[in-house]
Amino acid sequence: MIGKVAVIGAGQMGSGIAQSVAAHGHQVMLADVDLATAENARAGIDVALGKAVGRGKMEIAEAEATLSRIAAIADYEPMTEADLIIEAATEREEVKKAIFEKAGKVLSQGAIMASNTSSIPITRMANYSPDPERFIGLHFFNPVPVMKLIEVIPGLATAKSTTDRTIAFAESLGKEVVLSQDEPGFVVNRILLPMINEAVFVLGQSTAGIEDIDKGCRLGLNHPMGPLQLADFVGLDTCLDIIKVLYKTTRDSKYRPAPLLVKYVEAGWLGRKTGRGFYDYSGEEPVPTR
Ligand code: CAA
Ligand code: NAD
Repeated sequence: MIGKVAVIGAGQMGSGIAQSVAAHGHQVMLADVDLATAENARAGIDVALGKAVGRGKMEIAEAEATLSRIAAIADYEPMTEADLIIEAATEREEVKKAIFEKAGKVLSQGAIMASNTSSIPITRMANYSPDPERFIGLHFFNPVPVMKLIEVIPGLATAKSTTDRTIAFAESLGKEVVLSQDEPGFVVNRILLPMINEAVFVLGQSTAGIEDIDKGCRLGLNHPMGPLQLADFVGLDTCLDIIKVLYKTTRDSKYRPAPLLVKYVEAGWLGRKTGRGFYDYSGEEPVPTR
């Protein structure tokens, strides 16, 4: 049974994971690069819970209880009490490696170390943790409180007991599980990221503008968001990091990053999180930037 959970990386995914896990009764420790960032994320969760109360989706008492279960922490020492440590930091292998090495020092006997990576091989990252048998991919979808899916990705060395416990934990959050082999992009991002990347090629070749590309997929495919809107939502840096992993690990040219995606990231236009990506979010309504 998983009791206490630690989440490392308190960006949009770490915050959503902490909120969803705490809403299901678990004590959650939330860490980032420093205490102020973790506390800021906890304040953001408070706002999200307030919105849910405002829309009549949650009682005030439930929102307060959820928030009270989340503790922002400054260092990893309290994680000795965690049954599960979920890494949800920036999609860079060197960042994750440093986290697994540091968190490995406080991972208690029997506890599981999981990564929310979108694409980085689990088998390789397992070697950065003290026990690859207790290392696994636990891939949530954005926005975590809304999306029903979790991908579970055992690495080559992951023990069956780790996979079974992780699936039981994911299902206890009210999510549905897809079990994926440890292949580049797993299941969903292997399909999604080429679509997003191709949408940026379509834009770069001026086949259509931002709004029409998104409208085409919303109305023609019944997607809730067009691919460029979705790229902004995910984060253009994260999209680029994922497509780069697909390209590097498969060496298949179909995954080469769209040059315009690289340019946007180089400009620091990372999507909603920086206020500008393919759309500008500074006004009431998003405005296309091209
Ligand atoms: N956090 C929490 N809840 C949120 C939310 C957020 N950021 N955004 C929306 N919601 C909730 C709303 O509160 C609302 O809940 P209720 O129905 O209970 O009231 C519900 O979601 C619908 O929201 P809205 O009516 O405001 O907006 P919408 O109908 O336009 O839906 C959306 C918003 C759910 C985000 C929808 O546009 C959507 O599903 N978009 C696609 C999301 C998607 O594809 N995610 C996967 C990204 S890829 C990934 O995650 C993997 C990876 O590794 C990159
Ligand atoms: P984000 O940019 O919103 O947040 C990343 C967080 O990691 C930031 O708060 C940053 O300060 C923190 N961080 C960086 N280095 C750190 C360190 N050394 N120690 C602790 N924290 C550190 O990114 P995100 O969208 O939340 O993505 C996080 C992870 O989740 C990535 O691996 C990403 O691929 C994956 N993911 C993202 C999505 C998505 O739609 N954005 C969906 C599923 C999975």
